[in-house]
Amino acid sequence: MKNENMKNLLGLRNLKKDYIEEIFKITSYYKKKIENKICVEKILDGKSVINLFFESSTRTQTSFELSEKMLGMNVVNFSKGSSSMNKGESLLDTLKTIESMKFDFLVVRHQVPGVPYLIEKYSSSKIINAGDGTNEHPTQGLLDIYTLKEEFGELKNLNVCIMGNISHSRVAKSNIFGLKQFDANISVCGPIPFIPRDIEGLGVNVMLDTNEAVKKSDALILLRVQMEREAGTMLSSLSEYNRHYGITMDRIKSNPEIKILHPGPMNINVEIDYETSVMQNSMVLRQVTNGLAVKCALFKIMNESKVK
Ligand code: NCD
Repeated sequence: MKNENMKNLLGLRNLKKDYIEEIFKITSYYKKKIENKICVEKILDGKSVINLFFESSTRTQTSFELSEKMLGMNVVNFSKGSSSMNKGESLLDTLKTIESMKFDFLVVRHQVPGVPYLIEKYSSSKIINAGDGTNEHPTQGLLDIYTLKEEFGELKNLNVCIMGNISHSRVAKSNIFGLKQFDANISVCGPIPFIPRDIEGLGVNVMLDTNEAVKKSDALILLRVQMEREAGTMLSSLSEYNRHYGITMDRIKSNPEIKILHPGPMNINVEIDYETSVMQNSMVLRQVTNGLAVKCALFKIMNESKVK
């Protein structure tokens, strides 16, 4: 797929390496501007975008909104709580109403997997999936992979372990699909109920021992226990989880160079302790800056798309 053919970004499952690299080239351009606080050209002046967040968000929603405003768009933020959905309006009628306003871009986060694909069927707007249930979170995948590439240069044979609640994680899937394109060695680690039975079919190794995962990895991508998706019921307790899978200063002594990523929000003293989350090896805040740059790049590319 060439950039000019990219109308929507619904997942990384079918995105090829060349294409991702193209996105990253433009991301680097925006990253420099953001770091040096240089205004970016308002190349999307007059375009319109709606951020449809049916599920809560801090980093993703804020960085979408900021990138949209930096590029000059007219931005509308939809929040379910103050919408007519409170009066009983259905999701479908809500979406049809929004469609009638002819937004150029639609950014959607929904707790049900597949909602962005449903919208794609009848919407003429360009759509970005900002996380659909347990399915995919392509912008998070892109920003994580960009961060790893920035840090390590080469991703081929890089040992990346995704740790924690894999079975409920859209971030894990997008990272696996994207990192596979770059031939990274991907593993997953977590308690058995958190490891999907068919995960090896995606070309990843399963590790059940946290200490082994720390020792053998160049980078860890930590995931939150997704309490809102009933993940807590699969564990005896969060403190038990922390004892076996929590990443602590003590645990990383066996591999002091290891880099730590986390998409946020972090649950301190569950999957990570505070000290580790703020140490030099932690990429967490750099991920947020990179997320803003990735979004600027995506809007630029999608705006240039010739696909109707
Ligand atoms: C994640 C999400 O919402 O999918 N966070 C994010 O978007 N930065 C991860 C999570 O909620 O655990």
